[in-house]
Amino acid sequence: MSPPHLMTLADLTVPQLKRVLAHSHYQKQLALPWLAPQPKFIGTAPRLRMPSQSLFNKSIALLFAKRSTRTRLSAETAAVLLGGKALFLGRDDIQLGVNESPRDTARVIGGMCQGIFARVGDHSEIEELAKYSPVPVLNALSSLWHPTQILADLLTLHEHAHLFSEGSPPPPSADSPRSKKPANLPTLRPLTITWLGDSTNVLHDMLVTYPRLGHKIRVATPPQTAYQCPTPVWDRVKELGCEQHISWSSDPKEAVHGADVVVTDTWISMGQEAEKVQRLKDFEGYQVTEELCREGGANPNWKFLHCLPRKPDEVDDEVFYGPRSLVFPESDNRKWTILALFDLLFGKWDLSAPSSSK
Ligand code: CP
Ligand code: NVA
Repeated sequence: MSPPHLMTLADLTVPQLKRVLAHSHYQKQLALPWLAPQPKFIGTAPRLRMPSQSLFNKSIALLFAKRSTRTRLSAETAAVLLGGKALFLGRDDIQLGVNESPRDTARVIGGMCQGIFARVGDHSEIEELAKYSPVPVLNALSSLWHPTQILADLLTLHEHAHLFSEGSPPPPSADSPRSKKPANLPTLRPLTITWLGDSTNVLHDMLVTYPRLGHKIRVATPPQTAYQCPTPVWDRVKELGCEQHISWSSDPKEAVHGADVVVTDTWISMGQEAEKVQRLKDFEGYQVTEELCREGGANPNWKFLHCLPRKPDEVDDEVFYGPRSLVFPESDNRKWTILALFDLLFGKWDLSAPSSSK
């Protein structure tokens, strides 16, 4: 049997996406009480629930050619909760790229570890690793895609579904006693989700995912060719029938019209530092602010997402630190969605759906 890999959320069917999300929510509720202060057991001890231990005695290689805070922390802490260990292998730690090919590296790591979570430069590098790896490879960010980010964004939106539906009460806190039965993932109404910025790896996974789950996407990028969607990504968007639910313009005010959620990313992705001056010029008028969204006619109740790390260029402090911002729950959810994928992909080799995800 060849190992399952995940390069982009375009690789998953809608039932598979829903399964991973539900599994993330479920595992989060199982794990959180273990991280909270211990309850005092008086009388009969409650039935103990804990996250999956599918990585017990297993090791996961974190092959990171680029910097990371959230993705690395999520991977390392999730592996602990799943009973396993993550080994961080930075660009200067191993032979890859200097003395050794991706093909040989994949085979060697696969002989000792049970999964590879890889952050690479060009997307072809992770495709090459996956081609030769005897164990599952999960994309931790490449030039084209950032699948684990969009799973975290989706989990965050579902958890905050009450904010988008008048009158719905918030779900009960996940910090429940260990004995409490985990709640189902809250249902999310169809949303209009606006992206302001350039066509980055983060946007690309949104484009192939949100429309399939019933959401509309409105994008504004500066008009220059460099900021448009790369052909291999747009081909996947079309293949999945998503393009009919996406509108694209170069006017940020037009793009925020009717937005329930506004999303952006740094204007200078890792590796683009030399283009900083030109980019700051090209993105004038794209900063997410209250004023822009009011003038553009966003839903008055709009919320804000950002993958982080954030610079004040793309979003001002009022929005970023204000009540609309879901960025820190979004960041926390990197861990729970990565934990779910590690469990299913590395621990169980099973991303199939539907089935019992518990
Ligand atoms: N959002 C994200 O991928 O953050 P890091 O680069 O810090 O991992
Ligand atoms: N687009 C950004 C995302 C960082 C998480 C980058 O590739 O650097």
